[in-house]
Amino acid sequence: MFGEMVRVGAVDGRVYTSREVFAAEIERVFARCWNYVGHLSEIPQPGDYRRVTVAGRPLILIRHEDGTPRVLLNRCAHRGAAVVGRDCGRARRLRCPYHGWTYATDGALKQLPLPGGYKGDDAPRCGDPAWSLESYPVETYRDFAFVRLEEPEKAPPLAEFLGPAGEALDLMADRSPTGRLSVAGGRLAIVLRCNWKVYLENLHDGLHPPHVHESSISAARAAAAGGQPPEEIRWVAANGQPLATFGELEVRCHPHGHSDMSGFRKEADGRDAGYREALEEAWGAKRADRALTRNLHNACFYPGASAHPQYMQMRRLTPLAPNRTLVESWTLKAEGAPESHFLRNVRYANTIHSPSSLVKPDDAEAYRRVQQGLEGSPGPVSQHRRDENPGPDTSTALSEEYVRSQYLAWQSYMED
Ligand code: FES
Ligand SMILES: [Fe+2]
Repeated sequence: MFGEMVRVGAVDGRVYTSREVFAAEIERVFARCWNYVGHLSEIPQPGDYRRVTVAGRPLILIRHEDGTPRVLLNRCAHRGAAVVGRDCGRARRLRCPYHGWTYATDGALKQLPLPGGYKGDDAPRCGDPAWSLESYPVETYRDFAFVRLEEPEKAPPLAEFLGPAGEALDLMADRSPTGRLSVAGGRLAIVLRCNWKVYLENLHDGLHPPHVHESSISAARAAAAGGQPPEEIRWVAANGQPLATFGELEVRCHPHGHSDMSGFRKEADGRDAGYREALEEAWGAKRADRALTRNLHNACFYPGASAHPQYMQMRRLTPLAPNRTLVESWTLKAEGAPESHFLRNVRYANTIHSPSSLVKPDDAEAYRRVQQGLEGSPGPVSQHRRDENPGPDTSTALSEEYVRSQYLAWQSYMED
């Protein structure tokens, strides 16, 4: 039924506005896929935890006392109270604030008051899995942790799910000679007033910058006139490159709706003394060169995450309602890389992705207009018909092939 709402060239607008479609997407798309929940550097010690919401479920990402990451449902087995009230912290045990049921960091029930008050075989007992905090499978890829909420026997393991899209995470981890990254420099968050798909459908959209970002492009050009502009000005001005340039950017579509795109802002990394050599020693010359020179812009890990490896950005999207989407982003710091790279990447995030930057509000307004138009008028829209592909297996930032690829994945989850 839902699959019929999507055809090449004519998507039913309700796909973006209907509460029924949205509820089905949460259960069929988000709950069935691997979802990014955090980087292991965010929970370095046993007992370190973070609250995360995935597919509408309140979760706790926590490092168990054996060092492994776990994801637990933040719902007490007694009467359902949220056990953890803070966004992050460290705890040897998780104690529910209501009546004191207490759980280990793997969710096992360790203590409850007056256990003698319960009778019968199914009475709550310490260590009984039936009375633990519910836990979900977690897998990591280069220390990026993903969780899966439903149908573990049917879904592929994480590495298989990511497939070639995992390269974006490899490129970031390979920027460190030890392979170790840490989330640093704070978190940016914005609630977009649009459906979650509107955001994903912009990730490789090379047609929009000259229009949507016109004001910031002209301001950057004026500021750059007659001088050596700082990099912040260059980054903003880069949105004003001719459309033909976007037509030269390779967009790769991968299985499961994932994709990535080559970059149009270039940095001369690898000139810092000793850095390239350290990477070569760790990874070999070829892999080190790739980490330093492969310029990936946005990558999409469908449906809930994206990255921008060139500037070490990781993002998670959380659908809140058919017309509300939370997007959070973090900068990753590579151990052993020059400090100047990290500082530049934080400046990049602030210049381009901050809700108060010159660029992000332009996109947010375009997304809001899309949502506004779709909500006010039923009927089909031409969503992803455009094709500028130079060959059968190649796609560019002027093509909507990646949107078609996202909808293929969407249909496969929604029709099941
Ligand atoms: S609801 Fe948690 S102990 Fe009662
Ligand atoms: Fe944009």
